[in-house]
Order: sequence, then structure tokens, then C-alpha cells
Amino acid sequence: MDSPIDADVVHRYEHETWTRCAATYLDHFAGLTRETISLLRDAANIQPGSTVLDIGSGPGHVAGALAEAGAAVTGIDFSARMVEVAHRHYPQATFLEADAEQLPFDDASFEAVVSNFVIHHLARPDVVFREVYRVLEPGGSFAFVVFERPEAQSSIGAFFEAVAAHHDSDELPHGPLFGADRSAYAAPLNASGLSDLHVETHDILWRSDSVDPVLQAFLEWGNIAALPQDVQQKIEVTARENLESYRDGASYAFPHAVLLGTAVRSG
Ligand SMILES: C[S@@+](CC[C@H](N)C(=O)[O-])C[C@H]1O[C@@H](n2cnc3c(N)ncnc32)[C@H](O)[C@@H]1O
Repeated sequence: MDSPIDADVVHRYEHETWTRCAATYLDHFAGLTRETISLLRDAANIQPGSTVLDIGSGPGHVAGALAEAGAAVTGIDFSARMVEVAHRHYPQATFLEADAEQLPFDDASFEAVVSNFVIHHLARPDVVFREVYRVLEPGGSFAFVVFERPEAQSSIGAFFEAVAAHHDSDELPHGPLFGADRSAYAAPLNASGLSDLHVETHDILWRSDSVDPVLQAFLEWGNIAALPQDVQQKIEVTARENLESYRDGASYAFPHAVLLGTAVRSG
């Protein structure tokens, strides 16, 4: 039976995790997460001049790309380190340190809200959806991307198998939508006032010239450096072997299925 979620523990854990990953995220995880920028742009109907909020903007590549295309974009993230990196790399967008649970904006401030690979990490997604509703203009769109079912995540699966083989790990703290079926999004979104939820699956590839950035991303994310040295080495060797099976000619291609969700503030 699932143990009850302690939302404060999840919130703290996520903050620590992404703060640890901030300095290298653009060289590691962004190789995967930038693949969905155009999906979000089209789903939220973002045009030159649109006012856009990016929730959980991380190191800023999503907000940066949308601003480069002419939108007026603000990114928020609760990790100060992520915000620092985003400022440095993407001066065309505005970035603020803020918690998605308490957005520092007036009601109806944005024409579109996007969130890329964040919602499944949230401790209290219902609270964040209410904030999305509040800051959207009537008629505004919300578009988000999250991972699809866990079995459809090649690189993550390769890493988790390596951890399971060598480390008797306790389950990591995670929020209510982590690994959830698409149907789980309907209740909290509808309760927030957002409507017309539409969810579809997209297949994307994390392409990389080498296994290293993918492996390093997960070692850092899983805080493997905190484990005894012999365990670290075993996990690294097995994870590398598992990831090698995704070689595609001279490089690597890791398939992932994601959910693209859209909803609107109708009134
Ligand atoms: C997996 S990263 C995604 C980063 C970026 N959106 C991307 O597409 O790669 C999740 C990000 O959400 C941020 N985050 C998680 N919970 C948050 C919250 N409650 N408020 C603000 N940011 C949050 C983390 O700090 C992290 O930068």
C-alpha cells in the first residue's frame, strides 16, 4: 500500500535536488527537456508579443527560446541557483525566484502559462493549478509536459535498474502525480477552475554523442555521490552498460514518452 505523502518533505527534497543539479542542468537534462519547447509553444498558442509565464523554469532554456521567438516571458523557479543560471544564459527573458504555490503576480497577468517537466515533481499540484488559474487572463491557455508512464522512459529506467541492482534504496519522496496515469490530472485541474483538459502522448528522443551527460545527469539527480564509494562505482558501471544499449550509429538515442496537457481559463 502507498504510504501517505508528506508534502513538506517532497517540497524540501525537490528544492535540494534541483539546486544540486542547477550548475550542470543545461549540459545534462536540458538535452532531453528542450525537445518539447515547440509542443508547448503550439499548444499554448504563443505568438510574438504574448505574455507568458514559465513555471519551474530551471536554467531558463524554455523561457529563453520562447522569448527569442518574440514572446514576453517570465520564468519562476524556487531554486535560487537555477534562477542565477537562467539569468546568465537567457537575458532576453525575466527570471524570478518564487514558489509555484504562491506566485508573485496579480490576477490575470498572463495570456499563457507553460510548465515543462515540473508538474509531476510538485508536492501540492492542486495548489499550483489554482495559482495557474488565478494568474491566467480569461481565455488564456495552460500547457504542460510531464513524463508518461515509467516503463516508457528509457534512460531513467536504465539508471533505476542500476540503482536497484546495487543499492537497497528507500523509495524517494515524490508528489501525488509522479508516475501517475493521465486520468489523475483531471480532478485537480477541474477543481482549480481550469477547463477543457486535453492530454496527448508524444514520443521524443534524448540524443547525445556520448553516454556521459546522460549518466552524469542521473548520478547527480540521485545524489549517488552520497553513497559508499564501492556502491557508487558499481551503480556507475551497470548504468553505463544499460545506457550503452541505446547506441544509434555514432551517437545515442534514448526514447521517452511524454504527456502534453492543455487546459484553459474560460471565464
Ligand atoms: C525537472 S526541472 C525542469 C526544468 C525546466 N522546466 C526544463 O524544462 O528542463 C524541475 C524544475 O522545477 C522547479 N520546481 C519544482 N517545484 C517547484 C515549486 N514548487 N516552485 C517553483 N519551482 C519548482 C525545480 O527547481 C526545477 O528547476
